[in-house]
Amino acid sequence: MTEKTSLKSLVDQHIQSLNLAEREPVNLYGPIDYILSLKGKRIRPILTMLAYQSVSGDLPQKALNLGSAIELFHNFTLLHDDIMDKAPVRRGKPTVHTIWDNNVAILSGDALFAYSMELVVKEFPNHAAALIQEYTQTCLEVCEGQMEDMDLAENDSATIPQYIQMIRKKTAALLGGCMSMGAIAGNASEDIRIKMKTFGESVGIAFQLQDDLMDAFPPEGFGKQVGGDIIENKKTFLLLKAQEIANPEQKEKIENLLNQKDNPEEKVREMLDIFEVLNIRELTAQLIEEYIQKARELSKELSREIQFEPVAAFLQEIANRKL
Ligand code: IPE
Ligand code: IPE
Ligand code: MG
Ligand code: MG
Ligand code: MG
Repeated sequence: MTEKTSLKSLVDQHIQSLNLAEREPVNLYGPIDYILSLKGKRIRPILTMLAYQSVSGDLPQKALNLGSAIELFHNFTLLHDDIMDKAPVRRGKPTVHTIWDNNVAILSGDALFAYSMELVVKEFPNHAAALIQEYTQTCLEVCEGQMEDMDLAENDSATIPQYIQMIRKKTAALLGGCMSMGAIAGNASEDIRIKMKTFGESVGIAFQLQDDLMDAFPPEGFGKQVGGDIIENKKTFLLLKAQEIANPEQKEKIENLLNQKDNPEEKVREMLDIFEVLNIRELTAQLIEEYIQKARELSKELSREIQFEPVAAFLQEIANRKL
């Protein structure tokens, strides 16, 4: 068993042991139990625990509550994100708001958020103030990023730098937050903490680029609606790069597809054809590699100062991920 799988099962068991399914009202806790029981990769808690271990030298499971808190927060964002994105499927199963309804998904998400806050400071009361400060700052950035994501979907002149800023907030801030909170709990110096946070952000940008790539070109077992970003006119790197390099005829075709309100299957198919012709898959893969490379360089620096090897190995697993 690799370190990652054993930490993943520890997180799964720990979340199960919180017994949220037994609470009432069932319409609030049922959806929470549902989303938490689906097969998430748990990369955020694993990252948090490995970050903690790398600075403290302690066993990673000493930060199990902290990591789980971040996983609960992540699941809260998924419940709300799926409403915003009108997503029918998550982790291979129908989304909470389609099984129950929007009100239930909003409230279950809120409850998850509140519960996660309780767990954040549980193991490290001596670091409570710093952890809460980092946690709330991260939450705010995720909200800002999610707002920018929706604003950009309505914006016809969105740029690639705006997109990168948006994903830095909606996704990379949380991966940076995992590294930073693990570092705080493990008593890292400020200098090391900031380097670790920057490392997490680079991984996070690569991670969201990969997520956007898979939304258009799904691997087998992809548990989400294919082409959801295209249907919703999300300004992903794929689309913005295509607009940048398209010839006038292709530009017009993209424009028409963005304005197309009916026949989503056709819209997805035709947009994918343009992406293929313009080699967008490869161009996105190259940008992902650039951010992974940035993370690798930081990882090398950090390895000279702390026991960073397990995090570096996990970076490789994230870089190779298929789902
Ligand atoms: C999905 O995150 C949301 C993004 C930030 C792209 P994950 O891909 O980590 O989702 P799960 O938790 O493994 O399902
Ligand atoms: C979601 O980005 C980021 C957050 C949940 C904050 P996406 O909207 O691309 O994530 P998926 O594809 O639905 O998992
Ligand atoms: Mg989404
Ligand atoms: Mg979204
Ligand atoms: Mg996505």
